[in-house]
Amino acid sequence: MGCTIIGCGKALPALEIANDDLTALVDTSDEWITTRTGIKTRRICVDETNVDLAERAARAALGWDEGGFNERRIDPEEIDLIVYSTATPDVMVPTCAALLRRRLGLSNAVAFDMNAACTGFIYGLGIAESMMAASAAGAAGASGRNAFRRALVVGGERLTRITNWEDRNTCVLFGDGAGAAVVEWSDERAGILATYLRNDDDTDNALTCPTAFDAPQPFDAQGVSLEAAQAADPGLARIDAELGVTEAVEAGRPRQTLYMHGQKVFKFAVEAMGRAVDEVLERAGLTIEDVSFIVPHQANERIIKYAAKRMKLPLDRFQISIAHRGNSSSACIPMTLSDAYDAGRIHPGDKVVLVGFGGGFTSGAVLYEA
Ligand code: UT7
Repeated sequence: MGCTIIGCGKALPALEIANDDLTALVDTSDEWITTRTGIKTRRICVDETNVDLAERAARAALGWDEGGFNERRIDPEEIDLIVYSTATPDVMVPTCAALLRRRLGLSNAVAFDMNAACTGFIYGLGIAESMMAASAAGAAGASGRNAFRRALVVGGERLTRITNWEDRNTCVLFGDGAGAAVVEWSDERAGILATYLRNDDDTDNALTCPTAFDAPQPFDAQGVSLEAAQAADPGLARIDAELGVTEAVEAGRPRQTLYMHGQKVFKFAVEAMGRAVDEVLERAGLTIEDVSFIVPHQANERIIKYAAKRMKLPLDRFQISIAHRGNSSSACIPMTLSDAYDAGRIHPGDKVVLVGFGGGFTSGAVLYEA
Protein backbone atom coordinates (compact mmCIF):
# COMPACT_ATOMS: atom_id res chain seq x y z
CA MET A 1 0.00 0.00 0.00
CA GLY A 2 1.40 3.39 -0.92
CA CYS A 3 1.73 6.30 -3.29
CA THR A 4 3.08 5.27 -6.69
CA ILE A 5 4.42 7.27 -9.66
CA ILE A 6 2.28 6.23 -12.63
CA GLY A 7 3.06 8.99 -15.13
CA CYS A 8 5.82 11.46 -15.89
CA GLY A 9 6.47 14.11 -18.54
CA LYS A 10 8.59 17.14 -19.36
CA ALA A 11 8.60 20.23 -21.55
CA LEU A 12 11.30 22.63 -22.68
CA PRO A 13 11.18 26.03 -24.38
CA ALA A 14 12.14 26.24 -28.07
CA LEU A 15 15.21 28.50 -27.88
CA GLU A 16 18.50 26.71 -27.27
CA ILE A 17 21.52 28.84 -26.35
CA ALA A 18 25.03 27.35 -26.58
CA ASN A 19 27.98 28.21 -24.34
CA ASP A 20 29.65 30.08 -27.19
CA ASP A 21 26.54 32.28 -27.58
CA LEU A 22 27.04 33.50 -23.99
CA THR A 23 30.47 34.93 -24.82
CA ALA A 24 28.55 37.85 -26.35
CA LEU A 25 27.24 38.65 -22.84
CA VAL A 26 30.05 37.82 -20.38
CA ASP A 27 33.75 36.95 -20.31
CA THR A 28 33.49 33.17 -20.48
CA SER A 29 34.26 30.22 -22.77
CA ASP A 30 32.78 26.92 -23.87
CA GLU A 31 35.84 25.22 -22.39
CA TRP A 32 35.35 26.77 -18.90
CA ILE A 33 31.62 26.05 -18.74
CA THR A 34 31.95 22.50 -20.07
CA THR A 35 34.79 21.44 -17.79
CA ARG A 36 33.45 23.16 -14.64
CA THR A 37 29.79 22.23 -15.01
CA GLY A 38 29.12 19.73 -17.82
CA ILE A 39 26.71 22.20 -19.45
CA LYS A 40 26.84 22.70 -23.26
CA THR A 41 23.50 24.34 -24.02
CA ARG A 42 20.41 25.49 -22.14
CA ARG A 43 16.79 26.23 -23.13
CA ILE A 44 15.40 29.71 -22.56
CA CYS A 45 11.79 30.90 -22.58
CA VAL A 46 11.13 33.76 -24.96
CA ASP A 47 7.37 33.71 -25.35
CA GLU A 48 6.63 30.59 -23.29
CA THR A 49 5.52 31.03 -19.68
CA ASN A 50 6.19 28.75 -16.74
CA VAL A 51 2.58 27.50 -16.90
CA ASP A 52 2.83 26.89 -20.68
CA LEU A 53 5.69 24.49 -20.04
CA ALA A 54 3.93 22.89 -17.07
CA GLU A 55 0.81 22.38 -19.16
CA ARG A 56 2.79 20.48 -21.82
CA ALA A 57 4.64 18.43 -19.21
CA ALA A 58 1.39 17.60 -17.39
CA ARG A 59 -0.42 16.58 -20.59
CA ALA A 60 2.41 14.12 -21.31
CA ALA A 61 2.36 12.82 -17.72
CA LEU A 62 -1.43 12.35 -17.82
CA GLY A 63 -1.16 10.39 -21.07
CA TRP A 64 -3.07 13.00 -23.08
CA ASP A 65 -0.14 13.83 -25.40
CA GLU A 66 2.75 11.79 -26.79
CA GLY A 67 6.15 11.84 -25.20
CA GLY A 68 5.65 10.91 -21.55
CA PHE A 69 5.76 7.76 -19.47
CA ASN A 70 2.28 6.49 -18.55
CA GLU A 71 0.94 3.36 -16.96
CA ARG A 72 -2.50 4.49 -18.14
CA ARG A 73 -4.40 7.53 -19.37
CA ILE A 74 -5.83 9.65 -16.55
CA ASP A 75 -9.22 11.35 -16.88
CA PRO A 76 -9.40 15.00 -15.73
CA GLU A 77 -11.80 14.31 -12.87
CA GLU A 78 -9.47 11.65 -11.41
CA ILE A 79 -6.91 14.25 -10.23
CA ASP A 80 -7.81 15.58 -6.80
CA LEU A 81 -4.59 17.46 -5.94
CA ILE A 82 -2.09 19.68 -7.79
CA VAL A 83 1.15 20.56 -5.98
CA TYR A 84 3.14 22.99 -8.11
CA SER A 85 6.69 23.74 -7.04
CA THR A 86 8.17 26.96 -8.37
CA ALA A 87 10.47 29.77 -7.29
CA THR A 88 9.59 31.69 -10.45
CA PRO A 89 5.79 31.90 -10.79
CA ASP A 90 4.49 33.81 -13.80
CA VAL A 91 2.23 35.83 -11.47
CA MET A 92 1.62 35.76 -7.72
CA VAL A 93 -2.18 35.45 -7.98
CA PRO A 94 -3.67 33.28 -9.27
CA THR A 95 -1.16 30.58 -8.48
CA CYS A 96 0.47 28.64 -11.28
CA ALA A 97 -1.37 25.59 -9.93
CA ALA A 98 -4.71 27.37 -10.29
CA LEU A 99 -3.89 28.39 -13.87
CA LEU A 100 -2.83 24.86 -14.69
CA ARG A 101 -6.00 23.43 -13.14
CA ARG A 102 -8.16 25.71 -15.26
CA ARG A 103 -6.28 25.01 -18.49
CA LEU A 104 -6.39 21.24 -18.01
CA GLY A 105 -9.95 21.18 -16.70
CA LEU A 106 -8.94 19.32 -13.51
CA SER A 107 -12.18 20.39 -11.89
CA ASN A 108 -11.91 18.13 -8.80
CA ALA A 109 -8.40 19.23 -7.87
CA VAL A 110 -7.27 21.24 -4.87
CA ALA A 111 -4.37 23.25 -6.31
CA PHE A 112 -1.57 25.29 -4.75
CA ASP A 113 1.99 26.47 -5.36
CA MET A 114 4.91 25.86 -3.03
CA ASN A 115 8.55 26.88 -3.05
CA ALA A 116 11.47 24.94 -1.60
CA ALA A 117 13.98 26.22 -4.19
CA CYS A 118 15.69 23.45 -6.19
CA THR A 119 14.44 20.75 -3.79
CA GLY A 120 10.86 21.80 -4.55
CA PHE A 121 9.82 18.70 -6.47
CA ILE A 122 11.07 16.42 -3.66
CA TYR A 123 9.13 18.50 -1.11
CA GLY A 124 6.11 18.49 -3.44
CA LEU A 125 6.17 14.70 -3.68
CA GLY A 126 6.59 14.49 0.09
CA ILE A 127 3.57 16.76 0.64
CA ALA A 128 1.40 14.87 -1.84
CA GLU A 129 2.38 11.51 -0.35
CA SER A 130 1.65 12.71 3.19
CA MET A 131 -1.75 14.08 2.19
CA MET A 132 -2.64 10.84 0.43
CA ALA A 133 -1.41 8.68 3.31
CA ALA A 134 -3.44 10.75 5.81
CA SER A 135 -6.43 10.48 3.53
CA ALA A 136 -6.09 6.70 3.19
CA ALA A 137 -5.57 6.30 6.96
CA GLY A 138 -8.72 8.27 7.66
CA ALA A 139 -10.85 6.07 5.40
CA ALA A 140 -11.11 8.67 2.66
CA GLY A 141 -13.97 11.09 2.98
CA ALA A 142 -15.09 9.93 6.40
CA SER A 143 -12.22 11.56 8.26
CA GLY A 144 -13.41 15.15 8.23
CA ARG A 145 -10.73 15.92 5.63
CA ASN A 146 -10.57 16.08 1.85
CA ALA A 147 -9.89 12.73 0.22
CA PHE A 148 -6.78 12.54 -1.99
CA ARG A 149 -6.15 9.56 -4.19
CA ARG A 150 -4.38 10.97 -7.25
CA ALA A 151 -2.10 14.00 -7.55
CA LEU A 152 -0.24 15.93 -10.18
CA VAL A 153 3.12 17.07 -8.81
CA VAL A 154 4.85 19.71 -10.93
CA GLY A 155 8.23 21.39 -10.92
CA GLY A 156 8.15 24.37 -13.28
CA GLU A 157 10.65 27.22 -13.57
CA ARG A 158 11.44 30.18 -15.70
CA LEU A 159 14.76 30.70 -13.97
CA THR A 160 16.26 32.80 -16.74
CA ARG A 161 13.91 35.62 -15.68
CA ILE A 162 15.75 35.95 -12.35
CA THR A 163 19.22 35.48 -13.85
CA ASN A 164 21.68 38.35 -13.89
CA TRP A 165 22.99 38.17 -17.46
CA GLU A 166 25.98 40.31 -16.53
CA ASP A 167 27.22 37.87 -13.87
CA ARG A 168 29.36 35.11 -15.37
CA ASN A 169 29.43 33.27 -12.02
CA THR A 170 25.75 32.43 -12.34
CA CYS A 171 24.32 33.19 -15.79
CA VAL A 172 26.04 30.28 -17.54
CA LEU A 173 24.37 27.79 -15.19
CA PHE A 174 20.62 28.20 -15.59
CA GLY A 175 17.87 27.17 -17.98
CA ASP A 176 14.07 26.90 -18.09
CA GLY A 177 11.75 23.90 -18.16
CA ALA A 178 8.99 21.96 -16.45
CA GLY A 179 8.43 18.39 -15.38
CA ALA A 180 5.35 16.70 -13.96
CA ALA A 181 4.48 13.39 -12.33
CA VAL A 182 1.16 11.71 -11.66
CA VAL A 183 1.08 9.89 -8.33
CA GLU A 184 -1.67 7.53 -7.25
CA TRP A 185 -2.52 5.85 -3.95
CA SER A 186 -2.47 2.10 -4.46
CA ASP A 187 -3.75 -0.56 -2.09
CA GLU A 188 -1.53 -3.18 -3.79
CA ARG A 189 1.75 -1.49 -4.60
CA ALA A 190 4.35 -0.11 -2.20
CA GLY A 191 5.27 2.95 -4.28
CA ILE A 192 7.07 5.52 -2.12
CA LEU A 193 8.97 3.58 0.55
CA ALA A 194 10.43 6.57 2.40
CA THR A 195 10.93 10.32 2.20
CA TYR A 196 13.53 12.53 3.86
CA LEU A 197 13.11 16.33 3.95
CA ARG A 198 15.60 18.62 5.63
CA ASN A 199 16.57 22.25 6.11
CA ASP A 200 19.92 23.70 7.14
CA ASP A 201 20.48 27.42 7.66
CA ASP A 202 22.29 29.16 4.81
CA THR A 203 24.28 31.14 7.37
CA ASP A 204 26.59 32.69 4.75
CA ASN A 205 23.75 33.76 2.42
CA ALA A 206 25.36 31.63 -0.27
CA LEU A 207 22.22 31.52 -2.41
CA THR A 208 19.75 34.39 -2.45
CA CYS A 209 17.27 36.14 -4.70
CA PRO A 210 15.66 39.11 -2.95
CA THR A 211 12.31 40.01 -4.43
CA ALA A 212 11.06 43.53 -4.99
CA PHE A 213 7.32 43.98 -4.90
CA ASP A 214 7.19 47.65 -5.64
CA ALA A 215 3.63 48.94 -5.69
CA PRO A 216 3.84 52.42 -4.07
CA GLN A 217 3.04 52.24 -0.34
CA PRO A 218 1.61 55.57 0.93
CA PHE A 219 2.16 54.92 4.64
CA ASP A 220 4.79 55.62 7.26
CA ALA A 221 4.80 54.76 10.99
CA GLN A 222 2.36 57.62 11.69
CA GLY A 223 -0.20 56.60 9.07
CA VAL A 224 -1.05 57.86 5.58
CA SER A 225 1.89 59.65 3.94
CA LEU A 226 2.03 60.56 0.26
CA GLU A 227 5.79 61.17 0.58
CA ALA A 228 6.36 57.59 1.79
CA ALA A 229 4.99 56.34 -1.55
CA GLN A 230 8.02 57.95 -3.26
CA ALA A 231 10.64 56.78 -0.72
CA ALA A 232 12.70 53.58 -0.65
CA ASP A 233 11.03 50.70 1.18
CA PRO A 234 12.68 50.50 4.64
CA GLY A 235 11.71 46.84 5.01
CA LEU A 236 13.50 45.91 1.78
CA ALA A 237 16.62 47.69 2.99
CA ARG A 238 16.59 45.59 6.19
CA ILE A 239 16.08 42.31 4.34
CA ASP A 240 18.88 43.24 1.90
CA ALA A 241 21.14 43.78 4.92
CA GLU A 242 20.05 40.45 6.45
CA LEU A 243 20.83 38.68 3.16
CA GLY A 244 24.16 40.49 2.72
CA VAL A 245 23.23 42.00 -0.63
CA THR A 246 23.02 45.69 0.32
CA GLU A 247 26.28 46.67 -1.36
CA ALA A 248 25.54 44.76 -4.52
CA VAL A 249 22.06 46.27 -4.78
CA GLU A 250 23.38 49.76 -4.07
CA ALA A 251 26.04 49.21 -6.72
CA GLY A 252 23.22 48.77 -9.20
CA ARG A 253 22.82 45.00 -9.48
CA PRO A 254 19.22 44.15 -10.20
CA ARG A 255 17.58 43.17 -6.91
CA GLN A 256 15.41 40.39 -8.26
CA THR A 257 18.23 38.20 -9.57
CA LEU A 258 20.08 35.24 -8.14
CA TYR A 259 23.25 35.74 -6.13
CA MET A 260 25.37 32.67 -5.46
CA HIS A 261 28.63 31.82 -3.77
CA GLY A 262 29.29 28.79 -5.96
CA GLN A 263 31.90 27.01 -3.88
CA LYS A 264 29.87 27.20 -0.66
CA VAL A 265 26.81 25.80 -2.40
CA PHE A 266 28.96 23.12 -4.05
CA LYS A 267 30.29 21.92 -0.69
CA PHE A 268 26.81 21.89 0.85
CA ALA A 269 25.41 20.06 -2.20
CA VAL A 270 27.83 17.14 -2.09
CA GLU A 271 27.26 16.61 1.65
CA ALA A 272 23.50 17.11 1.43
CA MET A 273 23.02 14.61 -1.42
CA GLY A 274 25.03 11.89 0.31
CA ARG A 275 23.26 12.45 3.63
CA ALA A 276 19.78 12.50 2.07
CA VAL A 277 20.41 9.19 0.29
CA ASP A 278 21.79 7.58 3.48
CA GLU A 279 18.85 8.81 5.54
CA VAL A 280 16.10 7.82 3.12
CA LEU A 281 17.61 4.33 2.82
CA GLU A 282 17.82 4.00 6.59
CA ARG A 283 14.16 5.02 6.92
CA ALA A 284 13.20 2.28 4.47
CA GLY A 285 15.51 -0.29 6.09
CA LEU A 286 17.47 -0.71 2.85
CA THR A 287 21.09 -0.27 1.77
CA ILE A 288 22.66 1.37 -1.25
CA GLU A 289 23.04 -2.09 -2.85
CA ASP A 290 19.24 -2.30 -3.02
CA VAL A 291 19.04 0.85 -5.17
CA SER A 292 18.70 0.35 -8.92
CA PHE A 293 18.82 3.93 -10.03
CA ILE A 294 19.38 7.49 -8.78
CA VAL A 295 17.84 10.64 -10.25
CA PRO A 296 19.72 13.61 -8.79
CA HIS A 297 19.20 17.36 -9.03
CA GLN A 298 21.17 18.71 -12.00
CA ALA A 299 23.19 21.71 -10.81
CA ASN A 300 26.65 20.64 -11.87
CA GLU A 301 27.93 17.35 -13.33
CA ARG A 302 30.89 17.54 -10.95
CA ILE A 303 28.56 17.59 -7.93
CA ILE A 304 26.91 14.38 -9.17
CA LYS A 305 30.32 12.77 -9.72
CA TYR A 306 31.51 13.66 -6.21
CA ALA A 307 28.25 12.40 -4.72
CA ALA A 308 28.53 9.13 -6.68
CA LYS A 309 32.06 8.66 -5.37
CA ARG A 310 30.89 9.30 -1.79
CA MET A 311 28.12 6.71 -2.26
CA LYS A 312 30.60 4.31 -3.91
CA LEU A 313 28.21 3.87 -6.83
CA PRO A 314 29.18 3.75 -10.51
CA LEU A 315 28.07 6.79 -12.49
CA ASP A 316 25.98 4.66 -14.83
CA ARG A 317 23.45 4.28 -11.98
CA PHE A 318 22.73 8.02 -12.17
CA GLN A 319 20.65 9.83 -14.75
CA ILE A 320 22.70 12.84 -15.90
CA SER A 321 20.78 15.24 -18.13
CA ILE A 322 22.60 18.50 -17.52
CA ALA A 323 24.49 18.87 -20.84
CA HIS A 324 21.63 20.36 -22.85
CA ARG A 325 19.60 21.96 -20.08
CA GLY A 326 21.68 23.43 -17.29
CA ASN A 327 20.09 23.92 -13.90
CA SER A 328 16.36 24.61 -13.98
CA SER A 329 15.84 24.41 -10.21
CA SER A 330 12.77 22.43 -9.15
CA ALA A 331 12.07 21.38 -12.75
CA CYS A 332 15.31 19.39 -12.95
CA ILE A 333 14.32 16.28 -11.03
CA PRO A 334 10.96 15.59 -12.73
CA MET A 335 12.48 16.31 -16.18
CA THR A 336 15.44 14.04 -15.42
CA LEU A 337 13.08 11.35 -14.14
CA SER A 338 11.16 11.65 -17.39
CA ASP A 339 14.44 11.18 -19.31
CA ALA A 340 15.17 8.02 -17.34
CA TYR A 341 11.74 6.57 -18.21
CA ASP A 342 12.14 7.63 -21.87
CA ALA A 343 15.50 5.87 -22.01
CA GLY A 344 13.97 2.68 -20.54
CA ARG A 345 16.27 2.87 -17.54
CA ILE A 346 13.55 2.36 -14.89
CA HIS A 347 11.78 -1.01 -14.76
CA PRO A 348 8.85 -2.27 -12.69
CA GLY A 349 10.08 -3.27 -9.23
CA ASP A 350 13.22 -1.11 -9.40
CA LYS A 351 14.05 0.89 -6.30
CA VAL A 352 14.69 4.46 -7.40
CA VAL A 353 16.01 7.40 -5.37
CA LEU A 354 15.22 11.00 -6.29
CA VAL A 355 17.56 13.37 -4.47
CA GLY A 356 17.95 17.13 -4.43
CA PHE A 357 19.32 20.20 -2.66
CA GLY A 358 18.94 23.92 -3.05
CA GLY A 359 18.58 27.41 -1.64
CA GLY A 360 17.46 27.76 1.93
CA PHE A 361 19.29 25.39 2.36
CA THR A 362 16.78 22.68 1.55
CA SER A 363 17.61 19.08 0.73
CA GLY A 364 15.83 15.76 0.58
CA ALA A 365 15.21 12.44 -1.07
CA VAL A 366 12.34 10.19 -2.08
CA LEU A 367 12.82 6.43 -2.39
CA TYR A 368 10.17 4.56 -4.38
CA GLU A 369 9.54 1.19 -5.93
CA ALA A 370 8.68 1.60 -9.61
O1 UT7 B 1 20.81 24.38 -7.77
C1 UT7 B 1 21.54 24.69 -6.61
C2 UT7 B 1 22.39 25.88 -6.78
N1 UT7 B 1 23.59 25.79 -7.53
C3 UT7 B 1 24.63 24.95 -7.39
O2 UT7 B 1 24.55 23.91 -6.81
C4 UT7 B 1 25.96 25.37 -7.95
C5 UT7 B 1 27.10 24.94 -7.05
N2 UT7 B 1 28.37 25.50 -7.48
C6 UT7 B 1 28.98 25.18 -8.64
O3 UT7 B 1 28.47 24.41 -9.41
C7 UT7 B 1 30.36 25.76 -8.92
O4 UT7 B 1 30.88 26.36 -7.74
C8 UT7 B 1 30.35 26.83 -10.08
C9 UT7 B 1 30.12 26.12 -11.41
C10 UT7 B 1 29.27 27.85 -9.82
C11 UT7 B 1 31.70 27.52 -10.15
O5 UT7 B 1 32.75 26.58 -10.32
P1 UT7 B 1 34.04 26.66 -9.39
O6 UT7 B 1 34.94 25.61 -9.85
O7 UT7 B 1 33.58 26.59 -7.95
O8 UT7 B 1 34.63 28.09 -9.75
P2 UT7 B 1 34.92 29.33 -8.81
O9 UT7 B 1 33.64 29.99 -8.40
O10 UT7 B 1 35.89 28.93 -7.74
O11 UT7 B 1 35.69 30.27 -9.82
C12 UT7 B 1 36.99 29.91 -10.34
C13 UT7 B 1 37.41 30.98 -11.33
C14 UT7 B 1 37.27 32.40 -10.80
O12 UT7 B 1 38.34 33.16 -11.34
P3 UT7 B 1 39.64 33.47 -10.45
O13 UT7 B 1 39.12 34.23 -9.28
O14 UT7 B 1 40.21 32.13 -10.09
O15 UT7 B 1 40.47 34.27 -11.40
C15 UT7 B 1 35.98 32.89 -11.44
O16 UT7 B 1 35.97 34.29 -11.60
O17 UT7 B 1 36.56 30.91 -12.51
C16 UT7 B 1 36.03 32.21 -12.77
N3 UT7 B 1 34.72 32.07 -13.39
C17 UT7 B 1 34.54 31.96 -14.71
N4 UT7 B 1 35.40 31.97 -15.74
C18 UT7 B 1 34.90 31.83 -16.96
C19 UT7 B 1 33.53 32.00 -12.78
N5 UT7 B 1 32.56 31.85 -13.69
C20 UT7 B 1 33.17 31.83 -14.90
C21 UT7 B 1 32.70 31.70 -16.21
N6 UT7 B 1 33.59 31.71 -17.21
N7 UT7 B 1 31.37 31.57 -16.50
